[in-house]
Amino acid sequence: MAFFVRSLSIRALPTRASKAQPVSRFLLPNLRTITTAATKNISFGGRSVGVPTGLFIGGEFVNAKGGNLFETENPATGKPLLSVAEGREEDVDEAVRVARKTFQTWKDSNPVYRARLLNKLADILERNAEDLVAIECADTGKTAKQAGNLDVPGSIGTLRYYAGWADKVLGQTSTNIPSTFAFTRREPVGVCGQIIPWNFPLLMFVWKIAPALATGNTVVIKTAEATPLSALKVCQFIKEAGFPDGTVNLVSGYGKTVGNAIAHHMDVDKVAFTGSTATGRGILKASAASNLKKVTLELGGKSPNIIFPDADIEKAVDWSAWGINMNFGQTCHAGTRIYVHEDVYDKFVEQYTARMKAIQVGPNDQQGVDQGPQNSKMQYEKILGYIKSGVDEGATVHLGGKPIERTEGGYYIQPTIFTDVKPDMKIMREEIFGPVVCISKFKSESEVLEQANDTTYGLAAAVHTKDYERALRVTSALKAGTTWVNMYNFVHWSIPFGGYKESGIGRECGEAVLENYTQTKAVFFNMGMSAPK
Ligand code: NAI
Ligand code: MG
Repeated sequence: MAFFVRSLSIRALPTRASKAQPVSRFLLPNLRTITTAATKNISFGGRSVGVPTGLFIGGEFVNAKGGNLFETENPATGKPLLSVAEGREEDVDEAVRVARKTFQTWKDSNPVYRARLLNKLADILERNAEDLVAIECADTGKTAKQAGNLDVPGSIGTLRYYAGWADKVLGQTSTNIPSTFAFTRREPVGVCGQIIPWNFPLLMFVWKIAPALATGNTVVIKTAEATPLSALKVCQFIKEAGFPDGTVNLVSGYGKTVGNAIAHHMDVDKVAFTGSTATGRGILKASAASNLKKVTLELGGKSPNIIFPDADIEKAVDWSAWGINMNFGQTCHAGTRIYVHEDVYDKFVEQYTARMKAIQVGPNDQQGVDQGPQNSKMQYEKILGYIKSGVDEGATVHLGGKPIERTEGGYYIQPTIFTDVKPDMKIMREEIFGPVVCISKFKSESEVLEQANDTTYGLAAAVHTKDYERALRVTSALKAGTTWVNMYNFVHWSIPFGGYKESGIGRECGEAVLENYTQTKAVFFNMGMSAPK
């Protein structure tokens, strides 16, 4: 098998790439010396981990041109965690220049080579999983359970999945048109700008870079200012895996500067964005105002979760609790609007309340904690603002509703259930992004479908029922990009993910995302046709 790959690598290489790269690079990339001069240590749960703090441009960790730094904090205490280089417009320019230059050879590289690099990166992530969990927990407030069971394995799986796709992106042929032979090529788009949020910093980094690299694009990526650390660590691993310098370039910094510069850049061919709908609109406008770069958007949600009377209530309670507890509600597909049929409303609410009451909230480095701090002070205040608006608009706080103050500081909020909610309340219409759900009662399928779809968003939706005809009917009628039957908050790298309506444009994951990272070129061959006179 190894021999097969070896011979394939050598023969199938385009000449430019084979001249430029020694064969050994395509097989077992050498470990290179890593110059992470600015590596600093952080610790979480007794584990100390070094994190590079520079911008990652052209395969090196470098200082920002302006020499600026910004601080990321630990949300469990609200105390500073680490200072990292803060990029600005001129750093984006440099990163794009390097990414453009690298694209000239990377686009023609053997897909088998790209697959091997992606798999190698997956191996390195696997070996360093505990360090990545520690970094992610310290920077975001996640529990080790969340980061260790979902974020890190999800990132590794995504890398391997797109490694598998690298040599399977094919075009079509046509001999149907008389006197012609036509075919299509799937070519990489070019330099891809990628902007990611703070709720899944590692996973979103990998969701973005893996399909882009598999298809021969180069990348300039910006992490969220609240959570820059895990991506910096992965850049160290990208270098260790032996990716050519400049394939992935990371510019940490703020949205208004770095994000805005990427979105407006005249030499960025595509932007992939995950974050709020408001910022997503800005990205689309920036494309229109600059070079009409392709834009894909993965935005917010206000997803309905419907419980019919024939559901297994105990399981529906478990999944509905996970629907909001996953990542403490900071999930774009969180099940924030629960609709329960009147026949089982009391039973469901009683069991659900008991389930939510049992959630242990506290510092994320303590054993047994289910819910850690919210990601940042800004988000914490935003969530408390929504809770207040629910109260002001007349909803009932059935459970929780208060911050949890700790002498050590940090951003903790009680799991919160609102009842007596009305469809036009802010808490029923806007994304809260915290541990807050609204429960409503319904009478009929048609009524609940109307309410469920009464939103500008369309990211996800779920139905709990044992009636499979109903399950199919309801999932067909729900206007959302992901629908679940008898489960909630389950996504997988092999299945397309994205939004209907204002929840986004385009799909991530699965084969679908490859569409975003390739463009189709048609090639006609004249097979004997005369020119029209
Ligand atoms: P945001 O959409 O502003 O941030 C996401 C990313 O966009 C970050 O990297 C940020 O630096 C960048 N960004 C900000 N302004 C930009 C600009 N003008 N140009 C280019 N990039 C820019 O979201 P934010 O402020 O962190 O959170 C606000 C709310 O957005 C949350 O409370 C939540 O409701 C929603 N959100 C949704 C996410 C999702 O996965 N759908 C993820 C994060 C936030
Ligand atoms: Mg942080």
